[in-house]
Amino acid sequence: MEKSSSPEPKSTGSSILLHQIWNWADERLGLEPIVQLALKKRVPEHRHSFWYYWGGITLFFFIVMCFSGVLLLIYYHPGESSYESVRQITYDIKFGWLIRSAHSWSANLMLASAFVHMFSTFFLKAYRGPREFTWWSGVGLLLLGMIFGFSGYLLPMDDLAYFATKVGLSIPTVIPEVGPWIASLIRGGPEVSAFTVSRFFALHVVVLPALFIPLLMFHLYLVQKHGMSIPESEEQKPESERKSVPFFPNFAMKDLAMWLIALNVLALMAALFPWGLGPAADALKPAPMDIHPEWYFMSSFQVLKIFGQWFPGELGEFIGLAVFNLGLILWVLIPFIDPSSKNGRRSRLATYFGLLALFILLATTIWGYAVLPPATH
Ligand code: HEM
Repeated sequence: MEKSSSPEPKSTGSSILLHQIWNWADERLGLEPIVQLALKKRVPEHRHSFWYYWGGITLFFFIVMCFSGVLLLIYYHPGESSYESVRQITYDIKFGWLIRSAHSWSANLMLASAFVHMFSTFFLKAYRGPREFTWWSGVGLLLLGMIFGFSGYLLPMDDLAYFATKVGLSIPTVIPEVGPWIASLIRGGPEVSAFTVSRFFALHVVVLPALFIPLLMFHLYLVQKHGMSIPESEEQKPESERKSVPFFPNFAMKDLAMWLIALNVLALMAALFPWGLGPAADALKPAPMDIHPEWYFMSSFQVLKIFGQWFPGELGEFIGLAVFNLGLILWVLIPFIDPSSKNGRRSRLATYFGLLALFILLATTIWGYAVLPPATH
């Protein structure tokens, strides 16, 4: 078999050895085409290039989340002793509080950067063909990421987690006929209990990673296959006027710098605002007045509340759920709806839709927090 050409042999002993190891591995694993693909990749340079960092930042927080999650797994016990094990991690085990804080903060920062990444790819119109599957796999990743958050929130089983999960799991009950059955299946009984914690634990550490990781690989493979998209403003320019830099090493170095900034932000948040642990859940105690879901569910929570006030009984919440899902379907189908996907001509329609979606998301989230009663615990 022909020897591959990378990395280039140098005259020093160690580089010759490295070259030999590389050739040995390449002959057995066929690495050369992968390296060539990576070396071929170029990143467009224009005034919106900043937004190309956000997928990588999301990836970084996901990696931290996985590592810190594995460390937590060593001491966490699901079921009856879940609260006690989290109490030990937080107060008894050396640096346990920091690992737990880094895990929770990286999960939240991952979701926040995934939202930024989604809206930036939306406004850059990166969902247009041939990147439809990149868009759909991205939506899948965000939804799975939110379920990660929801299932992880219950695991300490403190009072906030207990009541917030109780409220969250009452949402599917508004679906006629099957709703109560779905809620009971997720809870593992009529009430949120240690059984629910065990189910959420299996979901959080086995089922969700088993779905998320292959979907993420698919997403990254597509990014590599299609290269980075360019916004409409760049498409207007003749090809000779478009600028780009090689991904390796130029853009990768900048990506790395962004990861360093992300690490600093994470370290500051985790150390200065350690993740709290409330009193153990007590089903007999009244629910705190200010009970609310995590920030990434606040918008849907508020939409349900608004519709619930407009219509009698469970009908309002059902309509709210339907409206929310309709918006989500439109969002998923945007590659087909945006006229510029079909005729290649510039169209503002999708941009207005994106601005409206962003406005509704932000406004209902702020509104949701603004109308919360003062904390009672
Ligand atoms: C949640 C985990 C996610 C990870 C780790 C991730 C990772 C990445 C990475 C590393 C890139 C290449 C660099 C970049 O454009 O930033 C990328 C590109 C892309 N992502 Fe994601 N992504 C995620 C979620 C999403 C979501 C929620 C969407 C949209 C619904 C999305 C849609 C896209 C699209 C369309 C591209 C191609 C961008 C282009 O060609 O210009 N991704 N993603």
